[in-house]
Amino acid sequence: MPDQPPAFPQLPPGFRFGTSTAAYQIEGAATEDGKGPSIWDTFAHTPGRINDGSTGDVACDHYHRYEGDVALMQQLGAGGYRFSISWPRIQPTGSGPANLKGLDFYDRLVDSLLAHGVQPMATLYHWDLPQALEDDGGWLNRATIDRFADYAAIVGERLADRVEHWIPVNEPNVASMMGYSIGMHAPGRALMFDGLPVAHHLLVAHGRAVQVLRAAGATSVGCANNHAPMWPASDLPEDVGATKLFDALWNGMFLEPMLLGRYPVDLAPLLVDEIHDGDMATIRQPLDFYGVNYYNPMRIAAADEEAEMPFEMRELVGYPTTDFGWPVVPDALREWLITFRARFRAALPPIMITESGCAYDIGPDEHGVVDDQPRIDYLDAHLRAVATAIERGVDVRGYYTWSLLDNFEWTEGYTQRFGLVHVDYETQARTPKRSFEWYADMIRAQPPG
Ligand code: NOJ
Repeated sequence: MPDQPPAFPQLPPGFRFGTSTAAYQIEGAATEDGKGPSIWDTFAHTPGRINDGSTGDVACDHYHRYEGDVALMQQLGAGGYRFSISWPRIQPTGSGPANLKGLDFYDRLVDSLLAHGVQPMATLYHWDLPQALEDDGGWLNRATIDRFADYAAIVGERLADRVEHWIPVNEPNVASMMGYSIGMHAPGRALMFDGLPVAHHLLVAHGRAVQVLRAAGATSVGCANNHAPMWPASDLPEDVGATKLFDALWNGMFLEPMLLGRYPVDLAPLLVDEIHDGDMATIRQPLDFYGVNYYNPMRIAAADEEAEMPFEMRELVGYPTTDFGWPVVPDALREWLITFRARFRAALPPIMITESGCAYDIGPDEHGVVDDQPRIDYLDAHLRAVATAIERGVDVRGYYTWSLLDNFEWTEGYTQRFGLVHVDYETQARTPKRSFEWYADMIRAQPPG
């Protein structure tokens, strides 16, 4: 009899499993306890910006229901939980003294997680910039970096003694490109290449926050960068060239400064005016882990000469897709991890998968069961891809699936459900899906750590 593959993916002893969320996507309580408005409050309340016309005003009401959500995490048995801290809860206008009620909320959340055996991983910036700072230019304004460092200090002083892992900035590539270059995300600016200073400022903000968090006692500080393998639509030189350029903008522009202290050679001339003395050294802080948010590869072609951008995205045919239309390509994660390690070797700290997940519009059946087999298949395949990369020598220490709960998926509103737990937005009822049971069983089936 040939060897059967193990029933569950097998990861090394001590491998950390977790789930992830972000403040604006789950908390609700948009104006409570002194919270100020963020760019996402403004954007979501602007007619036409969100596909289903919704906002994050209530979302999953996690601000009031966090204890129940932590109990779900305990039931799941995953040892880690990644969440983000809402800057305008801590500083309603983005500067000045801390709003203690805002800090107290995260204090209670962290204590509750620890009491239930779940280690916190906190993100400082998951896109909800205080609106008052945007009114002063937002991330186009270099002064926002100093504001961010002040905010990081406030949060670090309160929570660094209990938060296991820190992430200063979530997906700086998405924040800059979707927010300031093409405007599909808040603050909705469509500056194209003129949005590039935002990327540099977010990177310097990352570096400053790493320093500040360490000074406050944080022992593990990393990042959460979105990475997508870039595949050319054909082997025509113009498609290959467009793919290389987009790869540099999406992937290289963030990982090379963080790991090597320089911009990709193709892009350096575009950024030269933004770089002040010492910036590149600030960005290149030693990291305790490198967080990868992975969803799918992208297929890129050269755009027409007259187009605003020189590249365009094409459909990746031949793969199954999630209900969001995103291709499901677990092998690309394995390959990307292996190539990433081969390229950066000693410059690369241990990797954490800080996000990986899929959206399927599957709700409770007549028995109340949410039978989301496609999500189980997705998680199984992606965890096996990670396990293979580890066998090939890549040091991956954890996998945090996006997401614990169905939630507000930015421009898509509530139409894309990424959760292990189904949320009925009318009643706020939580229903663990079959994938939740699978994730719990998979974790229980791991070798003891
Ligand atoms: C990455 C983002 O960090 C998260 O906020 C988002 O919901 C997921 N991707 C899915 O799009």
